[in-house]
Amino acid sequence: MMCLRSRLDLTASDPSLMDHFNYQGDQLCAEQVPLRAIAEQFGTPCYVYSRATLTRHWRAFDEAFGARPHLICFAVKANSNLAVLNLLARLGAGFDIVSVGELERVLAAGGDPGKVIFSGVGKRADEIQRALEVGIRCFNVESEPELARINAIAVALGLVAPVSLRVNPDVDAQSHPYISTGLKENKFGIDIQAAEAVYRDAAEQPGLRLVGIDCHIGSQLTSLGPFIDALDRVLLLADRLAEQGIQIEHLDLGGGLGIRYTDEDPPLPDAYAAALSARLGERSFEIILEPGRAIAGNAGVLLTRVEYLKPTPTHRFAIVDAAMNDLLRPALYGAEQEIVPVQRSGAGAASSQPSTASSGNPRGERIDKPLVEPLVERTSASRFEPAVELYEIVGPVCETGDFLGRARRLALAEGDLLAIRGSGAYGFSMSSNYNSRPRAAEVMVDGDRVHLVRRRESLSELFAGEEVLP
Ligand code: LLP
Repeated sequence: MMCLRSRLDLTASDPSLMDHFNYQGDQLCAEQVPLRAIAEQFGTPCYVYSRATLTRHWRAFDEAFGARPHLICFAVKANSNLAVLNLLARLGAGFDIVSVGELERVLAAGGDPGKVIFSGVGKRADEIQRALEVGIRCFNVESEPELARINAIAVALGLVAPVSLRVNPDVDAQSHPYISTGLKENKFGIDIQAAEAVYRDAAEQPGLRLVGIDCHIGSQLTSLGPFIDALDRVLLLADRLAEQGIQIEHLDLGGGLGIRYTDEDPPLPDAYAAALSARLGERSFEIILEPGRAIAGNAGVLLTRVEYLKPTPTHRFAIVDAAMNDLLRPALYGAEQEIVPVQRSGAGAASSQPSTASSGNPRGERIDKPLVEPLVERTSASRFEPAVELYEIVGPVCETGDFLGRARRLALAEGDLLAIRGSGAYGFSMSSNYNSRPRAAEVMVDGDRVHLVRRRESLSELFAGEEVLP
């Protein structure tokens, strides 16, 4: 299952061949590495990313535009791990950021500041200053007061800020209300009707250079219509601006292309690019896109282990060691992500080895796992084959909303490993320490190699910045 079928993949008859998380025999692997081996080495919960998938997804966007001038700026909020950013930077990616924290990550990862777009409704003065100093590509400005602030800071620094206005085109993205951003009533952007006057005013400011028009109408869009409607409105604005002598150079159409989590059927990047190109015709604007989910979403899984099976009068709960603090999407949006066994046949039970402390951890970092796990190791002699049942996959956090999957048909036993697919975007980046749970480890697989790209947080790190009163 996956979102982005490359040209090669279109010939694949088995949809499971369409990303780099596939079964080899009974074992679910990330590229060439069995996920079970990763769980044993690094413990669970653990995010596992595939370098090949990230690379292919980024290229799918980049190649879709062919010779038309374009820049694909990965939305850092989707996955801000330095290894992910570095990989994309090496491919030539730009980056869409929404905070100085994300800017520093991009710089630390070797990203080119000249390819950074700064989005977001609430940029602080210090964030604007830092972005000006490092020479970012463009600020996507969301209000008149922000425009005035950027102008003042640029003038004070003796610089000129490249800006686009993020316009709100009043288009319904037909996505979850929390991640739809292009409607008039949303906090985002400048009303497209008012934008023309704001551009005229901005053109008079000494600290501003008007370089583009920006819009982003929402996330997890599964059809092209809303993108095209938004582009049409943006093009009308570009025409009106041109008539008034305001020539902009680029159109930033945001992110938002959806992925397949379960049965969605979103367009592929080449269809998306073709539809945009058809509308653009001969216009020579550079096209900037800010995809996050479509690049990273299906390039990652969250690996988790079943701690307990708990039948109640109404439900069968499988309590796993990942929780809403690790993966918030199901709890926050009611999102459904596929949950699959790491070992496919039978119960996933074959020598379900409990992972031991830090043994085998190449960097010797501490893994906060008990030395003696409360799991009974099942030998093949004692192995039983549990039946397929409907399970509520829940975490240990003390909230009823702490679920990762509802009514999932699985054959489970204690100690089994599960992989939650589609977790490469808005997974780790939205994770927290709620319930004083250390954040998960992150691992990147590259062929048959495994790299720990963020070690599991230690217990002492949980309160490292805290002080008791004197
Ligand atoms: N550009 C801007 C200005 C954005 O606000 C976003 C996402 C993107 C680009 C990237 O959108 P994407 O291509 O990833 O759809 N946490 C939610 C998604 C929130 C998206 C916020 N903005 C989720 O897990 O579904």
